[in-house]
Amino acid sequence: MSERYLQPKDMPDNLWLSSSGTLVLPDALVNVYEKMLKKKGLYEVAKEKDSEEEGVVGGITEDDTKTHFATRFSGSAARTQLSMLDPKNELGNASNLFIKAFSGGTVGLLDIPSGAGAAAITILLTIASLREKGLLPRQRLVVKLVSGDVSEHARLYASEMLGGIIAHLEAQSIYVEEKSIEWDVCGAESTSAVLYEWMQHATNCHEYFVVMANFSGFLQSSGKLKKATPQLDEVIRWAAQRRSTVIWLEPQTNTVTKNFFPCVLKRFTDKLPRAFKKLWDETADFLKSHCTYIHPIKNYKPRVKVSLIRLEASDI
Ligand SMILES: C[S@@+](CC[C@H](N)C(=O)[O-])C[C@H]1O[C@@H](n2cnc3c(N)ncnc32)[C@H](O)[C@@H]1O
Repeated sequence: MSERYLQPKDMPDNLWLSSSGTLVLPDALVNVYEKMLKKKGLYEVAKEKDSEEEGVVGGITEDDTKTHFATRFSGSAARTQLSMLDPKNELGNASNLFIKAFSGGTVGLLDIPSGAGAAAITILLTIASLREKGLLPRQRLVVKLVSGDVSEHARLYASEMLGGIIAHLEAQSIYVEEKSIEWDVCGAESTSAVLYEWMQHATNCHEYFVVMANFSGFLQSSGKLKKATPQLDEVIRWAAQRRSTVIWLEPQTNTVTKNFFPCVLKRFTDKLPRAFKKLWDETADFLKSHCTYIHPIKNYKPRVKVSLIRLEASDI
């Protein structure tokens, strides 16, 4: 493993409290989330509802989006931040992959399924926080973002959330050009459409990056994995053509670690052996980490656990 750009000992205390092993979500993320909850009349729901409730995986209706946003958004954000910072040094090169890709230049980011934008927004605001603390240079960074999700409501939430942080990002020389597009992972045409949009919108980038976050609930709970598999293959094939980094992160449930990820990994290694190679300890199929985080609006510290597969473009 190459040396880390951001060493665990250098984690700033606006993102990680080392004494208690607790993540701190970026201030700007807490602010925009709180504002959005209030605007959508969801603040009380978010305060009262149990965010650990099973079965909240998002979905196509406005109610699905609202429930997911009020109860799961901060957990998704914390899971992304944990993958990105890897403060316990348990996730191989993951932190380097994020930091290298988003340190400057032009990046073509594909966030699928985007939901309300937790993954992309967390990546952007974590980079902004590291710049604020002087841990990363403030080089011009242009992110050409394509967000895809089956739910129009979720996509609208993502765009609104992004709108709420644009000024904050620009103060750190981070410029986002967003396109949001309907995407059904079970649909072949829809998947080609989202990939075409990514090819068109994100051209001439230094880096291409695909983040897939918290999708196993939907894919497994509704038994859709089989139907989705050809489309997931297509995403990986096109990502490989662009020498992309693909990071797929999920909660660390038994279903994910014992069934879902092994199944997905077997598929990719059997069917797409040239497209990507695993660049970590061959004895471990995927990487795991956990910690606590400060909840953005409740006075407690939930646990967050992540398991992730990261796939890097090989020299094809
Ligand atoms: C658990 S959320 C994760 C969203 C986001 N990545 C995050 O980390 O917060 C799952 C998302 O999958 C979306 N989804 C459900 N079925 C889908 C489908 N058939 N195709 C694409 N997205 C779908 C839902 O609308 C929801 O936004």
